[in-house]
Amino acid sequence: MTKWVFTHARGHEKIPITVYWETPFKLVAKHGAKIVGRLVWSYVDDVTGKRNASADWVTVIPEYRRMGIARTMLRVFFANKKLRRVEWLTAWTGSEIEQTGGYDLYLQLGFKEMCVCKDYYAKGIPTRMIAIKIGKGRSNKLDVHIK
Ligand SMILES: CC(C)(COP(=O)(O)OP(=O)(O)OC[C@H]1O[C@@H](n2cnc3c(N)ncnc32)[C@H](O)[C@@H]1OP(=O)(O)O)[C@@H](O)C(=O)NCCC(=O)NCCS
Repeated sequence: MTKWVFTHARGHEKIPITVYWETPFKLVAKHGAKIVGRLVWSYVDDVTGKRNASADWVTVIPEYRRMGIARTMLRVFFANKKLRRVEWLTAWTGSEIEQTGGYDLYLQLGFKEMCVCKDYYAKGIPTRMIAIKIGKGRSNKLDVHIK
């Protein structure tokens, strides 16, 4: 099983993080035996026949945020061979999610806002649909640079 390992330095402390595919549709990030992040994705059921995918859940537990874990999981995800024929990758960020930096994370990787839906997850929670082209013409911001 391929594992990606990187070390986050916090003061004198070194925190090694391992990212790997637990199932074909679920990535986990671990610090030792502790699961500190997850990414769950799916194919979008696109009636036009195009192969698109969605990053459905990207979460990192609060005490492990701002260490680059979500960015690493997304980059490992983008390198997944299953996405080879996928044209667009989408994600949804509701206003609550955006309070933790979810939108900034995706913008940093080159995602663009497509639309904002009123009451998408629940009444009073406007939600952005964001997307990035990952087939031909993909952004090189998505490449994995992890040793
Ligand atoms: C959003 C979330 C996944 C970010 O995880 P993370 O591991 O802390 O993110 P990273 O450390 O990889 O951050 C990568 C970049 O995203 C942006 N970012 C992340 N958190 C941010 C915040 N709180 N404020 C502003 N920008 C932020 C920054 O550009 C950051 O790069 P930098 O640290 O070099 O400036 C995490 O806060 C979380 O689990 N939130 C709750 C669930 C959620 O919102 N999921 C995303 C939508 S499904």
